[in-house]
Amino acid sequence: MTSTGATGATTIGPLTDCVALVTGATSGIGRAAARTLASYGAQVVAVGRRQDRLDELAADLGHDVCLPHAADLIDQPQAAAAVAAAVEHFGRLDIVVNAAGVMLNGPSLEARLDEWDAMVDLNVKGLMYVAKAALPHLVDAAGSSSRRVADMVNISSIAGRFANRNVAVYNATKFGVTAMSEAWRQEFSPHSVRVSVIEPGAVETELFDHQQQPVIEHYERLFAGVEKLHPDDVADLVAHIVTAPRRVALAEVVIRPTDQA
Ligand SMILES: NC(=O)c1ccc[n+]([C@@H]2O[C@H](COP(=O)([O-])OP(=O)(O)OC[C@H]3O[C@@H](n4cnc5c(N)ncnc54)[C@H](OP(=O)(O)O)[C@@H]3O)[C@@H](O)[C@H]2O)c1
Repeated sequence: MTSTGATGATTIGPLTDCVALVTGATSGIGRAAARTLASYGAQVVAVGRRQDRLDELAADLGHDVCLPHAADLIDQPQAAAAVAAAVEHFGRLDIVVNAAGVMLNGPSLEARLDEWDAMVDLNVKGLMYVAKAALPHLVDAAGSSSRRVADMVNISSIAGRFANRNVAVYNATKFGVTAMSEAWRQEFSPHSVRVSVIEPGAVETELFDHQQQPVIEHYERLFAGVEKLHPDDVADLVAHIVTAPRRVALAEVVIRPTDQA
């Protein structure tokens, strides 16, 4: 199996013959990861809610390389259907990148309960639904592929290592992602499935824009003068993790902007 891009050029790379499912593929880190994995030769199932952005990505990468699959991952059947679509369409699943996430911070006294629910529903439960559906296929892929390994890469945050005021529920969700990743790493390493967690500092994406205006302004002041990471910086790390030799499991990686203390 080789990938053919929109230009008709075949991409042969370290991930030729691999199928990767990437959530959050309509924006930021997930979109960059989908593009990078495709450039390494993988066939990619791109998951997000915004169909127009998925279609644009698939048109760019080529429809034999990229399957766009719209899903709202807070809904368990839709999360499971995304995984099923990957296996049905491409016949296997070697890599899952869980990048979908939402951050809605601010003082707890003024916080909206629906925003707290939204973070728990997507960052923890959505990821959990994708993982539950995907892990059996990753075990199969590790047992049958020439790579003899499969990968799940979960995007947590430095907020999954350190708690801060006004970040309580986002912290809780990202501590949860880090914890699930480590527990699954232990559970699935005997099956040759590497479960990795990436904990980025500030990345230039749309993540901050969904918050209430005073919170957006707070972060603008906080990061004034900080050169944030680019989504591609994190995508390159994802690619490094999944193309590492079979014996190498990069279990937990923190990546920060140089300027961010
Ligand atoms: N940016 C940072 O500074 C930073 C730092 C540390 C960690 N992170 C983490 O990195 C991950 C990616 O975030 P980003 O920075 O790339 O943010 P982003 O640009 O806002 O991307 C978020 C992605 O999540 C998807 N998403 C949101 N709600 C969804 C839902 N209900 N169902 C399915 N998909 C949904 C969005 O797609 P649709 O809207 O199309 O559904 C979008 O593709 C997140 O887990 C975030 O917590 C980011």
